[in-house]
Amino acid sequence: MKHILTEELLQSLTADTPSISPKFFYDDIGSHLFDVITLLDEYYPTRTEKWIMDTYQRGIADAVAHCDVLIDLGAGNCAKGSQLFDSIAPKQYRALDISKEYVEAAVADLQKQFPQIEMSAHAIDLSLPLAFPDLQALRKVFFYPGSSIGNFDPEKADQFFMNLAQECYESGGLLIGVDLVKDTQTLHLAYNDPLGVTAAFNLNALLNVNRLIGSNFQLQDWEHHAFFNASLSRIEMHLRARSDVQVILPGNGSQDHIISFGVGDLIHTENSYKYTQEHFVEKLRRAGFADIQCWTDPNKYFLVCFAKV
Ligand code: AVI
Repeated sequence: MKHILTEELLQSLTADTPSISPKFFYDDIGSHLFDVITLLDEYYPTRTEKWIMDTYQRGIADAVAHCDVLIDLGAGNCAKGSQLFDSIAPKQYRALDISKEYVEAAVADLQKQFPQIEMSAHAIDLSLPLAFPDLQALRKVFFYPGSSIGNFDPEKADQFFMNLAQECYESGGLLIGVDLVKDTQTLHLAYNDPLGVTAAFNLNALLNVNRLIGSNFQLQDWEHHAFFNASLSRIEMHLRARSDVQVILPGNGSQDHIISFGVGDLIHTENSYKYTQEHFVEKLRRAGFADIQCWTDPNKYFLVCFAKV
C-alpha cells in the first residue's frame, strides 16, 4: 500500500502541474478540521443547505414520494441522511463512505434509534462506477448532499450522473446539493477564513502524506493559497512554497526520490466547482434525468435538486 501511494504521489508531485489528491485531506485530523469548517460563519454551504432542507422538507418529501432504499453516497456520520428518515420514510438505508469503520459505527448507533429501517454500511470509492444489482427492482433514492459533486471535474460529474441515472432503472432519483456561483468576495472568504481552519485543513494533507509514505514535508515551508478561478468557475486550493524546498520521498528499498520546488511554486490540492442553477439542471438532464425539481435559499447561494429519471 505504502509503495503504491508513494508511486502515485511521485507521479502527481512531478507532473507539469504538481498536485496532491484531495483524498489526502481526510485523515482523522483532516476529517475533524472539515467538521470545524462547516461551523464557520464564512463557510455558508453547510448551513444554507440545512436551511433549504428544513424549510422545504415537505416539498422535498412530496417530490421523492416513495422510497424503498435511501442510498447515502458519502454518509460519514449519517447525520444528514438520518434527518430524512421522518419525512421520506425509507424502508432500507444504505450508508456508503470511503471509511468503512467510520460508517459502520454510525449505522450501528442509528439502527438502535430506527429499528424499523433495514440498515447496512459499505465502503465505497466514488471514482469507480457504482452498481446495485440486488436493488434493481426497488425504488432507490440516491442522496449526495454538501456539494461534494463540486469536487469532481465536470466530465467526471457527468459520468457519475449517467451512472446514477442508469442505476435508478425506471424509477427513483437523486437528491443532491450543490454550491452556486456568487460574488467573488463571499466565495473567497469561505475558503480563506480568518481563523485559518481551511489553511490548517489544506496544510494537514502534507502531514498525512508524511505519515503515509514517510516523506519530509515541513509545514513552515508551505502556505495556503485559495482563490476563485472565474473562467473555470471553481475555487482552487493550492499549497505555495514559502522558500526553495527539497522534499524526500522514501524509495522503499530503492533510491529515495528528491523533488525540488522553488519559492512560489504551487501544489494543487483541490477544485471546488460552482454552478449556476441552469447549468447544473442541464447537466442532470443530459445524464438522463427527465424531471428535476429545485429548491434554493433567498440569496441563491446553494441549490438542492431532486432529479427523477
Ligand atoms: C467537501 N467539499 C464539498 C468541500 C468544498 O467546499 O469543496 C471541501 C472544502 N475544501 C475547503 N473547504 C471545504
